[in-house]
Amino acid sequence: MKIAIINGPNLNLLGKREPEVYGNKDFDAYFLQLQSSFTDVSLTYYQSNVEGELINEIQRVGFDVDGIILNAAAYTHTSVGIGDAIKAIAAPVIEVHISNTFSREDFRHTSYITPNAKGLILGFGLDVYRLAIESFLPKL
Ligand code: DQA
Repeated sequence: MKIAIINGPNLNLLGKREPEVYGNKDFDAYFLQLQSSFTDVSLTYYQSNVEGELINEIQRVGFDVDGIILNAAAYTHTSVGIGDAIKAIAAPVIEVHISNTFSREDFRHTSYITPNAKGLILGFGLDVYRLAIESFLPKL
């Protein structure tokens, strides 16, 4: 099974950025842990701060992988283009957020991703990525 994790703007600063909201762990270190926990899954990771680059990556992997785990970060709340890209591809997308966006500012309650996503997992810290991987695996 091939799963692509795609992270949007400012998520390259995880571990340094607002640790009270996003925690202390660097994503690269967490990604290595994910890879060693899911040895049967071919996991890839891409991050960009640039909206068009995220759309290019969604299109690039979107007809190849079995699933995409997308944290579009701030673009979640603004990007019609990323929402359209998800609609355009074959791979199912799980939207994730580290924080509970619904307990934060009103502008974070809108998502251009959710209407076209297979599911949404949020508010459990970095563990949302593990839960999203589990959701793609065979069920009991
Ligand atoms: C986020 C929530 C977004 O509102 C915010 O802009 C982010 C991160 C999260 O993972 O909690 O950058 O997507």
